[in-house]
Amino acid sequence: MIEEVSRIQAEALAAIQAAASTEELKALRVRYLGKKAELSQLLGQIGRLPPEERRAFGAACNQAREAIEAALREREEELRQQELAARLEAERIDVTLPGTFVPRGHLHVLRQVWERIEEIFIAMGYEVYDGPEVETDWYNFEALNIPQGHPARDAQDSFFISGEVLLRTHTSPCQIRYMQSRAPALPVRVIVPGRVYRRDFEDATHSAMFHQVEALVLDRGITMGDLKGTLLEMARALFGPETQVRLRPSYFPFTEPSAEVDVTCIFCRGAGCRVCKGEGWIEILGAGMVHPTVIRNGGYDPEEVTGFAFGVGLERVAMLMYGIEDIRHFFNNDLRFLRQF
Ligand code: PHE
Repeated sequence: MIEEVSRIQAEALAAIQAAASTEELKALRVRYLGKKAELSQLLGQIGRLPPEERRAFGAACNQAREAIEAALREREEELRQQELAARLEAERIDVTLPGTFVPRGHLHVLRQVWERIEEIFIAMGYEVYDGPEVETDWYNFEALNIPQGHPARDAQDSFFISGEVLLRTHTSPCQIRYMQSRAPALPVRVIVPGRVYRRDFEDATHSAMFHQVEALVLDRGITMGDLKGTLLEMARALFGPETQVRLRPSYFPFTEPSAEVDVTCIFCRGAGCRVCKGEGWIEILGAGMVHPTVIRNGGYDPEEVTGFAFGVGLERVAMLMYGIEDIRHFFNNDLRFLRQF
């Protein structure tokens, strides 16, 4: 029986040495040291031996057991190291690899100019107001002193939704809306940036949808001097401190007197160039003193208050600020254009 013990030990040690994984080792432990293992069974038969051999046999069994135990521990440690190394290799993360690129956008150039204009006027104590793009004939024309059949309607041909409802052709209807919401409170100091629509043919300087910023000031004793000072302040903030403004007589049904406003050409600083066609001036907006009828339609008394208004094209300002030659660039969504701002 002693020979049996050394055979089992030799077999076990060989198997342990050959084991390729800790899983396999667990099975070997059960097989060679478990309750049903050959060695355990042999030991159970110790009683069959003559008493003088029992001691040596028991010692041999224990020694075999310890040898197997030790081999298992040693091999397990080896395999654990190997498995850990393999896992580290397989699951390695290279923290120096570049990360996943997440594209980050920025505000559209028109929105940037829009916010710049808001900042300029907020700094002068103005409120920013908003009105509907789908407007009634009354607010868009009638209340602004442009009755049915008036030739001024031809210059602002619109998209009609019904006979009475249209896409607003300018931000001026918000003059009326804002006055109605405030009357009789004074002073009125408001700007209204927003989209407007005209049934224009599209070309380098015309778009069927574009943006305006309306300004309206109403108080006792407001004069054209206030208008010019405000325009100068805005022009200098937008185009630089050397900029001058010039008012030329013009006509709008909702202002009297009315003016077209020019700024010194920002490309030649007034010397005359291709952009300003040798003039030294570039037209940027329409303005005037609010017509008494408009003041009355807004709910104020034209005998008591006067005011000025103007409407500036946002695209026009942006085109001048950045030297953009075609209005269609703003709306084509070409990233090569948009990324420049
Ligand atoms: N609403 C006019 C336009 O679109 C501009 C304007 C606004 C003129 C306010 C005078 C006063 O052409």
